[in-house]
Amino acid sequence: MDKVTVPLLKQMKRQGQKIVALTSYDYSTTRLLNESGVDVILVGDSLGMVKLGYSSTLPVTVEDMVYHTRIVARGNSRALLVTDMPYMSYQASLEDAVRSGGKMIKAGAEAVKIEGGTEMSRIIRALMVAKIPVMGHLGMTPQSVHMFGGYRVQGRERAARKNLLSDAKALERLGVFALVLECVPMDLARKITRAISIPTIGIGAGPHCDGQVLVIDDMIGITAPPLPRFVKSYARVRETIRSAVRAYGRDVRRGTFPDDAHSYR
Ligand code: KIV
Repeated sequence: MDKVTVPLLKQMKRQGQKIVALTSYDYSTTRLLNESGVDVILVGDSLGMVKLGYSSTLPVTVEDMVYHTRIVARGNSRALLVTDMPYMSYQASLEDAVRSGGKMIKAGAEAVKIEGGTEMSRIIRALMVAKIPVMGHLGMTPQSVHMFGGYRVQGRERAARKNLLSDAKALERLGVFALVLECVPMDLARKITRAISIPTIGIGAGPHCDGQVLVIDDMIGITAPPLPRFVKSYARVRETIRSAVRAYGRDVRRGTFPDDAHSYR
């Protein structure tokens, strides 16, 4: 299969080919995702919540993202590797944005993702001047959790729908190559997907987007419940790990591990 690139992703939309995206934060998972044909790997700042134990994405630093991007890049071969710009790595100044984005690219990312609409225009332009491809993110943008007053579906009211649609069109005009739509009503996601030529990648945005993304830990059952409604469970890895570790503990305590087959003579 061909290496997924920014132009290939746009071509996939034109050809009506759905885009499969997942997050990854480590080497071995990244290798498995490549072996399984995932098109886009996102080193998401969800890292903070699923791997670092924070209650939001806000404490995640540029150093955290660079460290995990390097690890993921070593395991990646085919997928397009996108890294999230963490909170306060791009909002304060254009210089911050370009320097932070550059660090992600030097660590092995092929593009960065930033949250927000037209208010991000200057930042997006500055990143693109530095030759850093930008993925957009609209709807329930987790770095704005305190502005939203919690993790809630966005774009239910008429004015909010209008704003989201015009933000999506503005991001396309700015040259963003793909757009994550998070937690928006599915009819709005369909309207946006039809209105723009760049691919939309939905998470909690219904089936009409050009692709889908989920947090890997959520969909394979590592994250403890409760999970958002939009997460479908494809595996029960917590149970698998717990029962393997219990079985190992039993064997060690009984003295049945290691046996002859696992020992050297
Ligand atoms: O941080 C993240 O993992 C994300 C995706 C869920 C879209 O932004």
